[in-house]
Amino acid sequence: MSNIVVLGTQWGDEGKGKIVDLLSPAFDAVARYQGGHNAGHTVYRNGTKVVLHLIPSGILRPGTLCVIGNGVVLDPRAFLDELAALRKVVDFRDEQIVISRHTHLILPYHRLVERISEDTLGERKIGTTCRGIGPAYEDKAARRGIRAGDLLDLAVLEDKIRQNTAEKNALIVRAGLEPLDPRAVFEEFAGYAESLRRFIGDASRLLNAEIKAGRSVLFEGAQGTLLDMDHGTYPYVTSSSSTAGGACTGLGVGPTRIDAVLGVAKAYTTRVGAGPFPTELRDELGKAIGKKGDEFGATTGRARRCGWFDTVAMAYACRVNGIDRLVMTKPDVLDGLAEIPVCTGYLYKGSLLDEFPTEPWILEKVQPRLETRPGWKLPVHEIRDWEALPPAFLDYVKFLEDRVEARFAVVSTGVERRDTIFNDGRLGGLLDLAKIRAAV
Ligand code: IMP
Repeated sequence: MSNIVVLGTQWGDEGKGKIVDLLSPAFDAVARYQGGHNAGHTVYRNGTKVVLHLIPSGILRPGTLCVIGNGVVLDPRAFLDELAALRKVVDFRDEQIVISRHTHLILPYHRLVERISEDTLGERKIGTTCRGIGPAYEDKAARRGIRAGDLLDLAVLEDKIRQNTAEKNALIVRAGLEPLDPRAVFEEFAGYAESLRRFIGDASRLLNAEIKAGRSVLFEGAQGTLLDMDHGTYPYVTSSSSTAGGACTGLGVGPTRIDAVLGVAKAYTTRVGAGPFPTELRDELGKAIGKKGDEFGATTGRARRCGWFDTVAMAYACRVNGIDRLVMTKPDVLDGLAEIPVCTGYLYKGSLLDEFPTEPWILEKVQPRLETRPGWKLPVHEIRDWEALPPAFLDYVKFLEDRVEARFAVVSTGVERRDTIFNDGRLGGLLDLAKIRAAV
């Protein structure tokens, strides 16, 4: 039984939701380790679109344990709304969902503080999802955060909310906004305490017990490697550890319990929000790819910026996460292009960089070196076997692999579960493919 991390290798939106949903029959538990409802994991079930923001994508499979780790920040209102929406499309039991008692909560003042911070930054703004994610992580690091476990004692909760709201009100009033009423905030959260109580538990203990009993866990990443707070294009990043190490700190599971990291990579690249993006296409072709790929944020609806596959960034992502197997998503969006450029190096001040520079002041000045591969004429969407993939497509795959030291073991050719091609040999027994195929 393997325990694996599935994460994004680019700037998020690689299609992790579909992959986690597809692989989940081979796992007893799916655990989210970071981020919050800034994430949007889109899954299609028999033609119906389901967007998950907080609840692990394993919820669409009967009986799968879904854990929200301490590394996540949770907005109780968003969680309860998502739960209610999910109940309309899926059958699940509340006992399937566990929220770590150490998970930090997003409070109404976090959204206000974020709006003030983004407005103050003006042109330098990050372009966040404005869900209060960053300020909630700031409070966590400042050791004044309110955690899910605090909902279990209303006196503790009231005291913390009164103190924190007073501090934030000073800032809110300075920005010319209406202060929050601490009593009203407490009453709102006392209501959430009642609804959330049954979900709160010891996530680390539970997951370690599962693993010890021989059951398998899929660790589900949100956002992407290049949005990681430490390893991403700082400061144009999210506020959590979206790379593989985050799975350990965000759930209380040791690295010795994790067998592999599967990286999800789109056949091209997208980015939403501000920040450098060397292969960005600022022309009609970029817009056409965005339209064909339905590249609009699952959370905010913003149009995603589109560009070519970047092997410099991908090699870096494979290194910081320890990835040796990749999943390619959305190559069908490139179907029919006569040729496909790929970035294989960066020119900076007249020299070729051999490493991905994360500093935005370098990255925004690099010139991508593009090498062109022939496109494939046959649409990949209808193909079910690796051997049947067009030679030009396999050439594209090999060209990327030769530059990133990792191999593509799965190709997703459409939104439905059946639109997936596994390379059994390359997976080498990592996944229980019989279980996955039986559940497609
Ligand atoms: P925040 O996570 O809301 O603080 O936003 C920080 C940056 O991460 C912004 O550029 C967002 O657009 C980006 N971001 C956050 N969540 C996602 C996601 O799920 N997909 C893609 N980009 C995201």
